[in-house]
Amino acid sequence: MINKGIILAGGIGSRLSPLTKVSNKQLLPLYDKPLIFYPLSVLMLAGIKNILIVVNQRQKIFFQNILGNGSGFGIKITYKEQNKPNGLPDAFILGENFIKNDGVALILGDNFFYGQGFTKRLKKIIKKNKGATIFAYNVKNPQDYGIVNFNKNNKILKIDEKPKKPKSNFAITGLYFFDKQVSKISKSIKPSKRGELEIVDVLKIYLKKNKLNLEFIGRGGAWLDAGNVKDLFDASQFVASIEERQGLKIACLEEIAFNKGWINKKNLKDRIKYYGKCDYSDYLKNIL
Ligand code: TTP
Repeated sequence: MINKGIILAGGIGSRLSPLTKVSNKQLLPLYDKPLIFYPLSVLMLAGIKNILIVVNQRQKIFFQNILGNGSGFGIKITYKEQNKPNGLPDAFILGENFIKNDGVALILGDNFFYGQGFTKRLKKIIKKNKGATIFAYNVKNPQDYGIVNFNKNNKILKIDEKPKKPKSNFAITGLYFFDKQVSKISKSIKPSKRGELEIVDVLKIYLKKNKLNLEFIGRGGAWLDAGNVKDLFDASQFVASIEERQGLKIACLEEIAFNKGWINKKNLKDRIKYYGKCDYSDYLKNIL
């Protein structure tokens, strides 16, 4: 059973400059809430309540302002500062004392997941995860991502980082589940030519041991990453269309926590007070 999760919310966000000259990428708005609400909601929906957020040096305060220690959502949030973007596996080195002898989920702070049945699938995976589990999603531009090749039994044959001639259209998304070996494995790999530890190298070690599992996000699901201006804008429009149509919010952390019984009416009222007069507060009042 996995009950710990890490959100990677550091990075430079160079592709989003000049926006990221004034704010960390994960605190930029994705429609009506900060980007980090979305990956955090995924972990919460999966039932994960113990969360480590990796942030850039000196930026912790900005995340603490909005998320605090997680008590507003009935969860526990701790922070770890990263000196420089050393790559995704750095999360498991920085987070070694957090992970200890447990399995862990990793989600990238700029990733958005949405789709019917997704939460149920996550809950199943965190119960039975052995080794590592990745999610693949069909994309138009596979050359921009880590790519997975698999056979007709969905057995993984090969994974490649940003291949020039991709053999499949299935990108590896920014949500991963690992067993307790992940910190040790991350410490054993060397930085790539671009000077970063690569998550693909960690996955390759699991693959070699026959311990890498593949799950899919089907065409009825959405995986978006908000790494550049167009993607951030598109993701905002996606959220806006669904929220406007349904009158229900995606990634409202207090709603998720309240429905799970992790916070009570008093906590909800405190959050309304904290947010002040705004649409988001009106939505929370409706829940009350
Ligand atoms: P990227 O999008 O690869 O990197 P970035 O956010 O710095 O953006 P850019 O490429 O435009 O410069 O990172 C994916 C996510 O992981 C993102 O949410 C930031 C986070 N991240 C870290 O927290 N630490 C790291 O060392 C790296 C590489 C990324």
